[in-house]
Amino acid sequence: MEPLAPTDLNCEHLVSPRGLNTSRPRFSWALTAKGRNRRQTAYQIVVGTVREMVAGGHGELWDSGRVTSAETLLVSYGGSPLSSHLRFFWSVRVWDEDRRMSAFAEPAAVETGLMAGADWTAKWIGRPEFGRGGRPVPVASPYDNPYQARPADYLRRPFTVKEKPLRRAVAYATALGLYRLRLNGQEIGDQVLAPGWTDYHKRVEYQVHDVTALLAAGTNSLAAVLGEGWYCGRVGNTLKRQGAHYGPRPAFLCQIVLDYADGERDVVASDATWRAAKGPIVYSDLLIGEKYDARLEQPGWDEASFGDAGWEEVEIVAPWPRPPALDAARSQPVRRTEALPGRFLHRSSTGGRIYDLGQNIAGWTRLALTAPAGATFVLRHGEALTADGDLYTENLRSARATDIYVARGSGRERYEPSFTFHGFRYVEVSGPALDTADIDLTGVQVNSDTPAAGSFSCGSEMVNRLAANIRWSQRGNFLSIPTDCPQRDERLGWLADAQVFWPTASYNMDIAAFFSKWWVDIDDARQEDGAFTDVAPSRPHWAHNPYPPKGAPAWGDGAAILVWTHYCRYADKGLLEAAWPSLVGWMDYIARHNPRLLRENALNRNYGDWLNVGPATPKVMIAAAYWAHLADLMARMASILGLDEDGERFTGLLGSLKAAFREAFVDQDGRVEGDTQTAYLLALDFGLLDEKQAASARHHLLRTIAEADDHLATGFLGVRHLCPVLSDAGAVDLAYRLLLNQTYPSWGFSVANGATTIWERWDGWTPEKGFQTPSMNSFNHYAYGAVGEWLFARVAGIAPDPAAPGFRRVICCPLAHRGLGWAKAEHRAHVGRIAAGWTIAGGTVAYNLDIPANIVAQVCVPGAKRNAIRLDGEPVAGHADIIQAGETADGTWIEIGSGVWNFEWPLDRPAQRIRNAHDA
Ligand code: BGC
Repeated sequence: MEPLAPTDLNCEHLVSPRGLNTSRPRFSWALTAKGRNRRQTAYQIVVGTVREMVAGGHGELWDSGRVTSAETLLVSYGGSPLSSHLRFFWSVRVWDEDRRMSAFAEPAAVETGLMAGADWTAKWIGRPEFGRGGRPVPVASPYDNPYQARPADYLRRPFTVKEKPLRRAVAYATALGLYRLRLNGQEIGDQVLAPGWTDYHKRVEYQVHDVTALLAAGTNSLAAVLGEGWYCGRVGNTLKRQGAHYGPRPAFLCQIVLDYADGERDVVASDATWRAAKGPIVYSDLLIGEKYDARLEQPGWDEASFGDAGWEEVEIVAPWPRPPALDAARSQPVRRTEALPGRFLHRSSTGGRIYDLGQNIAGWTRLALTAPAGATFVLRHGEALTADGDLYTENLRSARATDIYVARGSGRERYEPSFTFHGFRYVEVSGPALDTADIDLTGVQVNSDTPAAGSFSCGSEMVNRLAANIRWSQRGNFLSIPTDCPQRDERLGWLADAQVFWPTASYNMDIAAFFSKWWVDIDDARQEDGAFTDVAPSRPHWAHNPYPPKGAPAWGDGAAILVWTHYCRYADKGLLEAAWPSLVGWMDYIARHNPRLLRENALNRNYGDWLNVGPATPKVMIAAAYWAHLADLMARMASILGLDEDGERFTGLLGSLKAAFREAFVDQDGRVEGDTQTAYLLALDFGLLDEKQAASARHHLLRTIAEADDHLATGFLGVRHLCPVLSDAGAVDLAYRLLLNQTYPSWGFSVANGATTIWERWDGWTPEKGFQTPSMNSFNHYAYGAVGEWLFARVAGIAPDPAAPGFRRVICCPLAHRGLGWAKAEHRAHVGRIAAGWTIAGGTVAYNLDIPANIVAQVCVPGAKRNAIRLDGEPVAGHADIIQAGETADGTWIEIGSGVWNFEWPLDRPAQRIRNAHDA
């Protein structure tokens, strides 16, 4: 038997973090192995500064020694605290169930970053605000720039690298605004829209780049382009008067630390010696778009030889109200993740050329063209076309999503914008030189580069497209923060949209690092009274008028649900611990306002089951249900954290809230107030009913669906629970019917009507009525994609067990169904790759699993006797590879370990689950 192999090393949820916010980082690895039931029984981690030494198992910073443990997730570094500006490597080897030792894994590199405030000598700088002579910068024309978006700042400074061997040079950079970093005429790094969105009054993240290879002895040139971005540009509902959320103008901060081989250190930092100018970016704004006039380029501006005599001195900027904390980036950067060629469709009614990417994306257009100097091209972006074939842009509300390119007039010109992004499938290009320009147009998808972690496919092409649409909506909206939508003038991180979608999102992508960052934004936005805000980051601009929106049931509640989901998926107890006081503060906030134990007060902008169809679910009932659900999660989290008193308190609260809920909202016949799908779904899935009530509530749920002609009617909140609750209730056929419906309202309806992303509304477009109201009709809103969780967890049978978080234990209770034909899924958890799939032949289900080493899977076969189940073609009963198995009144469960497993059983069972599985 071969030893186990540790792979996929990560540190603080990142493969190779550049910059840490802790001097005790945590290490994780996955395992691969051949054979069944393989386990890790011990590990050894080594940490050191020399790659080759670490690869050989020698780490001068820390050697854990052989630790008897099955742990592979988030093991804390145990050496003396790591210093700033340190590059180190780590590796791990493991021992298996027979004490066979593995080799050390290929070492992973980590940069610590500049961890203390005092490490930073750089100053915040920017282009002098009012130009020479103290006059405001004139705006070219009102058509071009109606909202007075600023021209980008171009900043530069030459510096000397000494004539002696350079060992290492690292650039640390960030901006209040957005920046691009250039060194000797080259772009540094492949990130875009850096440094991303945080509450800039509290913190901003910085990026770290090893630039050793880009430097040469003699004069070098460091340069940056600076845009407004989320800091002082426009975002969040209406363009007008909505800039400058955090400050009036952008600023840049950077330092390069140069370490020579002889031990000397030089620091090149942003300071008063830099020079500034305007350049070709006439303005660039997230909502408006960008205007780029290539005639204003100053060739070589970012190279050492450039003469910057005509440039101005920079201003030292004092960020208001105080300089923000400088945190290392916690998540993967935003990158270009895909390029889609634009296909010319036809001319618009005004003569523009309409291009189709074939896919609704978030990002921008890349242009290549040939045109005379000064020829202007206007690029408008939209998600749909009107009946006449024109670009449909009304649903962008005040976002203009328009980029303007003015040609240089020499050769083939290439352009893509720097500091904006749009949500679009179609592009209209117009301009006088259109016909001779020979345009090549590409759509560039841009998002936080969270690693792909899952795939789902099945026998229904419609459902496959739905699964793809869910992924695309995730990509289109996970852009520094999880936005609601990328196209209109909003793009805010709404907590309820996120909490219903997070389980799905974490199947699709590894979002552990992404959430670690967003959690900080959520916590930063928390109000003094303990209320979480409805969106995070929250803009300070909202401090008046009656913002920020905060504390709405299911929205403010989202914070606790997200932390719980993150824990179930990634076993991140550290984040749970850090979040705990804030979560308790939120529970206190609700309790303080609602002494009667009914959640009647402090509901704020109580949105309810947002965008449902049919009768609305009473909002107080939803609020009460969520409060009880939170008490339940808090009790569980307290017990994980070993906080007994808190645990008792929340368990007690849960009991009282359930009693109050039943008293107020459930009648003797098990009818829940409102009598809607969502009312029953929440009451059932949150476990708020007694057994008798639950049994009748299930019937009422089926009735409400039958009354809707076997169609769904839920909004954002109910949708997550729909298929899971139905299949748990044994109504598998109905769950599949809802999944496979193509008539309105359904997921399939949007697919049948050409959707390539998830729509915000069930009726975003209908043949009878056309587009829904332009005031709120996004075609890229992930909340209804929450059904993705059910596809992975229940259809394929890859569900995390909260009792062994991080997928250390997987519940495999698949829902084989002829309606779908076959299904398979894989999920790359931090513990390794889990794959599951079923086919049906004759009356038999074949279920195949691939389980990584060290992981236990519980296979559940509802309604089947043990002797009806076969493994490797043999009766499962007594099979030597099974860890254990049992029969209950509901069916059979079988516990197995790692390896490839092929089960078979007859397809004639009711499909209840045997134990709670999906509620992570
Ligand atoms: C957003 C939603 C959000 C809702 C709350 C909308 O404008 O797009 O996604 O949850 O507001 O009311």
